Amino acid sequence: MTTAKAHTNIALIKYWGKKDQQLIIPQTDSLSLTLNEFYTTTQVVFDPTLTTDQVSINHHRLTPAAAQRTSAFLDLVRQRAGRTEFARVNSINHVPTAAGLASSASAFAALAGAASAAAGMQLNRRELSRLARRGSGSATRSIYGGLVEWHRGHDDHSSYAEPVMEKLDFGLEMLAIMINTKKKKITSRQGMQASVATSPYYASWRQVVANDMQAIKAAIQQRDIPTIGHIAEENALRMHALTLSADPGYSYFNSQTLTAMRAVRALRKRGIKCYYTMDAGPNVKVIYDHRDRERVIAGLSQYFDRSQLIVSAAGPGIQIWDEKTKKVLL
Ligand code: DP6
Repeated sequence: MTTAKAHTNIALIKYWGKKDQQLIIPQTDSLSLTLNEFYTTTQVVFDPTLTTDQVSINHHRLTPAAAQRTSAFLDLVRQRAGRTEFARVNSINHVPTAAGLASSASAFAALAGAASAAAGMQLNRRELSRLARRGSGSATRSIYGGLVEWHRGHDDHSSYAEPVMEKLDFGLEMLAIMINTKKKKITSRQGMQASVATSPYYASWRQVVANDMQAIKAAIQQRDIPTIGHIAEENALRMHALTLSADPGYSYFNSQTLTAMRAVRALRKRGIKCYYTMDAGPNVKVIYDHRDRERVIAGLSQYFDRSQLIVSAAGPGIQIWDEKTKKVLL
């Protein structure tokens, strides 16, 4: 039995569109921050007595239909490792309830790590990044800690992530504003597909990302948080412009999302350098220098309950260990 722990990540330069749906080759590069507070631990054991994969998340056994995406991923691992046994998978998401951050990124990164090791494959981090990609695009980046870049590549071999700065030596920090929604959401998978197929702005998005990647990497080298934040905020808005401009158009924002965006801009007017980013849901994440943490929290507390605000520093890359011997495998 093998266990892997992988942290989730939030993109500062977004991945929003695939070139190859099967292999999950993205249209553009992307760049993210791995978060310390949110992670998934997953145990996998291949068991010859099983007649189907058994998948539990947070101690709840999934139906075969709900476990389908996990099983398809395990098929890939079995095929590569030359194994035929079904697997028992136990996964725990260490994410505050309703944070909207229980992402497929940490889940598939942890599954890739635990399943490949349990199947006897000894993958290095680049190989793991490529494998995790097949489960969910954003999982590609969760193999590494800190600031991480996903090279879009052009095939299975060339599309993987790499750290830009694995251990942050400056105070970039993120705060998640938890905004709940009852509305059934459009998955990122469906949403990005609609944007690629129907948004007239999609070609411009590719150029936007190419420029933003260059600029943000230069700003990271300068440890320039206001520039990093500004680029990330503009990039998020332009990604969301691809949802509004799809046919039919849609949006992940709700009124609370707009309130949060306004609140961040109001704080900035008061001289607090903070910036927002949003993914395929209504929650807003704010980035700033950790020295400004208390001022950011105090400012946002005028609009949101303190319990809705969750702070996270940068987090580490994947860890994999043998459950019996506790031997660290990666
Ligand atoms: C908005 O990685 O969830 O969070 O590859 O289809 O599983 P699939 O999509 P997913 O998309 C993430 C989209 C995003 C931006 C990002 O993380 O880069």
